[in-house]
Amino acid sequence: MADMLAFMKKVNAQPTTMGRRNVLAAGAVGVGAAGLLVACGSDDEPAASTPGPQETGAAPSASAPSASASGGAAAPANALASTSDIPVGGGKIFPERQVVVTQPAAGDFKAFNAQCTHQGCQVSQVQGAEIHCTCHGSIFSATDGSVLGGPAPSPLAAQAITVEGESIVLG
Ligand code: FES
Repeated sequence: MADMLAFMKKVNAQPTTMGRRNVLAAGAVGVGAAGLLVACGSDDEPAASTPGPQETGAAPSASAPSASASGGAAAPANALASTSDIPVGGGKIFPERQVVVTQPAAGDFKAFNAQCTHQGCQVSQVQGAEIHCTCHGSIFSATDGSVLGGPAPSPLAAQAITVEGESIVLG
């Protein structure tokens, strides 16, 4: 405490020198604060001006098909996907609708409940003519949902779909 008092007396005795030091110190704080503000600003700008990966990644698999990308025709309100979203000889899983749609042959669309009949995991991959559940390795046919391998006791349940123009509609 005595050292502090001596320091304060010295400061009062040399106001010009200490004043300059204080100005320099305040400037350093100001520069540091400005740096923090710049850093904060640069972190915020990309998130505010560009869509995040979740936004861009979610769009193609959203419940509504990309009507604007397919020529602007209005898709039915309950459309699941565009026919062009489903590869021939493959398929696509729609997690939010719990359905997997396949196209074993051109123009031949099939749909199945995406919940594995083993222990209820959602199937995770369509590889050619096979639908895979990677929880425990069950494999189902992309043509009829039958069990091709693994512990699943029964086929994937078929889901009714209709093709309306370029849209695949559940039901
Ligand atoms: S839940 Fe699909 S293999 Fe077990």
